[in-house]
Amino acid sequence: MLIICPHCKKQHNIDEKRIPPSVKMARCQGCNQQFPLEFSRQAPPAAPKPVAPTPAPKRTNGVRRIGVSLSKGGVGKTTTAVNLAAGLAMAGFRVLLVDTDTQGQSAFMLGLKPKAGLTELVAEELPAAEAVIPARKNLWLLAGGKGLAGLKRIIDRKDFGGEQTMADAITPLETAYDYVVVDTSPGWDPLTVNVLFYVNELLTPVSLEVMSLQGFGEFLKSIAAIQKYRKEVALKYILPTFRDQRVKQSDDFFAQLKKLYGPMVCEPIRYNVRLSEAPAYGQTIYEFAPGSNGAHDYRELIRKVAGDPTLFT
Ligand SMILES: Nc1ncnc2c1ncn2[C@@H]1O[C@H](COP(=O)(O)OP(=O)(O)OP(=O)(O)O)[C@@H](O)[C@H]1O
Ligand SMILES: [Mg+2]
Repeated sequence: MLIICPHCKKQHNIDEKRIPPSVKMARCQGCNQQFPLEFSRQAPPAAPKPVAPTPAPKRTNGVRRIGVSLSKGGVGKTTTAVNLAAGLAMAGFRVLLVDTDTQGQSAFMLGLKPKAGLTELVAEELPAAEAVIPARKNLWLLAGGKGLAGLKRIIDRKDFGGEQTMADAITPLETAYDYVVVDTSPGWDPLTVNVLFYVNELLTPVSLEVMSLQGFGEFLKSIAAIQKYRKEVALKYILPTFRDQRVKQSDDFFAQLKKLYGPMVCEPIRYNVRLSEAPAYGQTIYEFAPGSNGAHDYRELIRKVAGDPTLFT
């Protein structure tokens, strides 16, 4: 405590705890004058103003690995993987988006031109800090693209354990993230099998535009085949895409999915031209057209996946 003599203005630095509460007067060692102790006690420092607590970063109970997958092409897998990952990141989760498609569309949709990605990580040509690139706040990308041909060769050359190649490379990085979202290529190849040996949850977009239930049935059989070796992987979400309410068939197909698969079926993503325009600008739907039906529908999906109906409200 700083005590200032009111007579000679000499400053005395005194340990407050050493002054008995009964003492009311002090004597200045400079001018030898007495003065009431209260008189020159410095005002106590103002109590810090209460500030609103900053929300703690959102955390899941351990990392959630979600694969966006269906062997059929053009059903909205990449659109969904990118906007799911970006939306979860906007909601405060830390997200790694992994592109396992040689088309490399995820990076394109985010307006990025990565020089390296998954292949370089698996081949140990680059450390994770360089292979994984920042994409947005809370969002990182492990890119795919043509270089994945090299990864397929690495997998093919392995005499055993090839299906674990991707899991072995990504698992050590996981602790930094709440979600790992994996986009897959159409068809069925060693990389798809690798994805199914890594993710635990599958989100399958099914286009309501075309009756793709048959392709979906085939895909379910393939998952069942993998499940014999890896019980952890399971179909968790069926996401109807390209819903066109003007077309009766679209709603019939949605009703059929609901009847067959119940609560696993998410609210559909409507056909929305904004979703097809956004990639050319390298923007997510929330950046390109935040008020669009597409942004609205993907926010709804994120609430379901995160299990938090209050997100974005
Ligand atoms: N709900 C939607 N409304 C309108 N266009 C959409 C919608 N979802 C996706 N698209 C567009 O449809 C095309 C195919 O979508 P996308 O690339 O996401 O499918 P995909 O399943 O990843 O395809 P592939 O199997 O070739 O990887 C893209 O041009 C995309 O912009
Ligand atoms: Mg795709």
